[in-house]
Amino acid sequence: MSLTGKHALITGSSRGIGRGIALKLADAGVKIAVHYYQNERAAKDTLAAIRKHGVEGMIVQADVTKPAEITAMLGKVKKDFGKLDIFVSNARPEVPEFFQGPMDITLEQWNAAFDSQAKAFLVGAREAAASMNDGGRIFALTYAEGSRTGGLLPWAGMGSAKAALESLVRYFAVALAKRGITVNAISPGWTEDSVLNTLPTQAQELIRNWHVRGWTPMGRLGTPEDIGNVVTLLSSEQAGWITGQVIYADGGASLMNPEVPTEIQIG
Ligand SMILES: NC(=O)c1ccc[n+]([C@@H]2O[C@H](COP(=O)([O-])OP(=O)(O)OC[C@H]3O[C@@H](n4cnc5c(N)ncnc54)[C@H](OP(=O)(O)O)[C@@H]3O)[C@@H](O)[C@H]2O)c1
Repeated sequence: MSLTGKHALITGSSRGIGRGIALKLADAGVKIAVHYYQNERAAKDTLAAIRKHGVEGMIVQADVTKPAEITAMLGKVKKDFGKLDIFVSNARPEVPEFFQGPMDITLEQWNAAFDSQAKAFLVGAREAAASMNDGGRIFALTYAEGSRTGGLLPWAGMGSAKAALESLVRYFAVALAKRGITVNAISPGWTEDSVLNTLPTQAQELIRNWHVRGWTPMGRLGTPEDIGNVVTLLSSEQAGWITGQVIYADGGASLMNPEVPTEIQIG
């Protein structure tokens, strides 16, 4: 699929899922603004990999919990690129910054979740839309299971923030519909080469085995490339009628019944 001539900014594209999205869009001919927070070296590696696809790019830095930094970042991208066609709000703080159950979460941790998700999307999507021609594409990365369940207690802040983010996606979809700008949330299942790899080894193994044994019908975890493919597909002109949706990209994991053992479901 060719998206040659388009320009994209992906927050948190120094590593993980954001990097996978950046590389897949670059493969389709999109010029990429790679964003990082603290890890400049990783951002430079991503840009070098983008250039191997024969497209140019740039690097921007910002703390997405600070609205003024998001505004400055979008301003820099507009100045260098001239316009923006695709904006992906993907960055998320490190787990210890928000990981706490509802009885213990500090307001600082709560704010880290909400500021980096709902507020960052409010500011980022508004600024991005102002730099877009009609027909642009805006995406938010969510974790829809976390926004509708309550079992993983330390996800209380981030799950609530993702729920607010998904709600905002629907409002932006309507607000920008007349301009043909689509706004969608993408909900990956557990993904390799991402935050997963920062968890203790035992937790990683438990999660991998659970999915391979049956929770994910396709029998594997996702990859950043899988999610990059979804963003690339939805960035095509042909996807212009899909807006305001939470799109699960999880190999079927969201189809499983939590109240029935996987062995019985899969057979
Ligand atoms: N991984 C999964 O299994 C999974 C599943 C469902 C949904 N998601 C969602 O997918 C997105 C990406 O997750 P991931 O696991 O790929 O992330 P990750 O590997 O942990 O990477 C996080 C990215 O966010 C940046 N970042 C961290 N704190 C920041 C801040 N305060 N301001 C700006 N940028 C900041 C990091 O920049 P530096 O490199 O500079 O630190 C990095 O680029 C998240 O929204 C997450 O909720 C992930």
